[in-house]
Amino acid sequence: MREERRSHDPSPITTTSFWVKSFTIVIILILSVSVRLSVRSQALDGLIILLADSKQMDFIVIKLMGGRLMMSADLGKGPSAITSSVTVNDGEWHTVSGNTIAEVSRRVLSLTVDGSRPDSVSVKGNQLDVESTVYLGGLPSSHTARRINVSSSFPGCVRSVSLNGAMFDVSKPASHHDVTSCFTRDQKGSYFNGSGYAALMRDGYKVGSDMSVSMEFRTSQSEGVFLGLSSAKVDAIGLEMINGQVVFNVNNGAGRVSVRSIGRVLCDGQWHHLLARKTKHSLNLRVDGRSYSTPNPYPQSTSAETNNPVYLGGYPVGVKQNCLSISSRFRGCLRKLQLIKSHLSDALDLSSAHFLLGVTPNSCPVA
Ligand SMILES: *[C@@H]1O[C@H](CO)[C@@H](O)[C@H](O)[C@H]1NC(C)=O
Ligand SMILES: *[C@@H]1O[C@H](CO)[C@@H](O)[C@H](O)[C@H]1NC(C)=O
Repeated sequence: MREERRSHDPSPITTTSFWVKSFTIVIILILSVSVRLSVRSQALDGLIILLADSKQMDFIVIKLMGGRLMMSADLGKGPSAITSSVTVNDGEWHTVSGNTIAEVSRRVLSLTVDGSRPDSVSVKGNQLDVESTVYLGGLPSSHTARRINVSSSFPGCVRSVSLNGAMFDVSKPASHHDVTSCFTRDQKGSYFNGSGYAALMRDGYKVGSDMSVSMEFRTSQSEGVFLGLSSAKVDAIGLEMINGQVVFNVNNGAGRVSVRSIGRVLCDGQWHHLLARKTKHSLNLRVDGRSYSTPNPYPQSTSAETNNPVYLGGYPVGVKQNCLSISSRFRGCLRKLQLIKSHLSDALDLSSAHFLLGVTPNSCPVA
């Protein structure tokens, strides 16, 4: 979860994939609860807000589920749940109002999105008996979700959160974990801030003789590492931007072979598609539909023997990368990353990277 950064301060900050904020509040035994907030996300699932007692006997939770909002509550006499009829994961801001009313005459759970007619369902119980902590965007890993079904933390932005009319200052939580600012406007992709990198495939990726890398990139910098995958010896592949052109390097053990794009520079702030393919006997690079290729001059050496992690946007100091000419960290956005072998295609999901530094995995700023 990222909080909205005020517009005079648009610079982005790094995040990883878990977002938790907690606030200490003083409510124990409340009759009617009104939660209001605004959310922005392109994700399918995630916990948005939770109030509960320590055993989660009583709770109120609002989460994103399959792109819709789901509110569920238990006021001590069994759970009720309601799902919004509209989807909200379109990357735009939506206002959400969730209410439980536990009056003698009327006990309902109701959910309103963008001021539309509320969806409502009846609820049992008289009062909400909860702890004095509100969680926004996720739960600490020490918390086991007993009854709440927290599939994941919330990959998105939350602002203007209030409980029974009292506004939370989301910049001052009692505690927080992996929460960053939001970009004022964003689109799908992962943002690299130019001083970090992402590490994936901790157990190692085997390049072998035939494989392809496919991705889309957007940058204004003329130099930067896209991808490095290298053994500790010589076998490796690397993709980098040098002088505004894409360069694809492969070493199957006998020496480095390279192919590069030619023509207008690609560091123009627009999205470009690249597909880099190595076979036993050649290297091919396709950028925005234009193809470049070079033969492998070493016929006895056709397979890159690696079993190493994949680094994106840069790599740690001290890790050998035998097919990168530069170490400049990438600044810009990457999306639709795939490693492809004949029958097997691995989509690289940055929110499941085992290491991220200076990378916002689910959001790419729009100028
Ligand atoms: C959690 O999931 C189980 C099984 O899908 C379901 O029966 C239960 O109602 C869910 N609880 C809540 C609070 O959503
Ligand atoms: C990029 O992110 C890292 C890690 O959060 C941070 O230390 C660094 O200052 C950021 N750099 C820029 C240029 O924003």
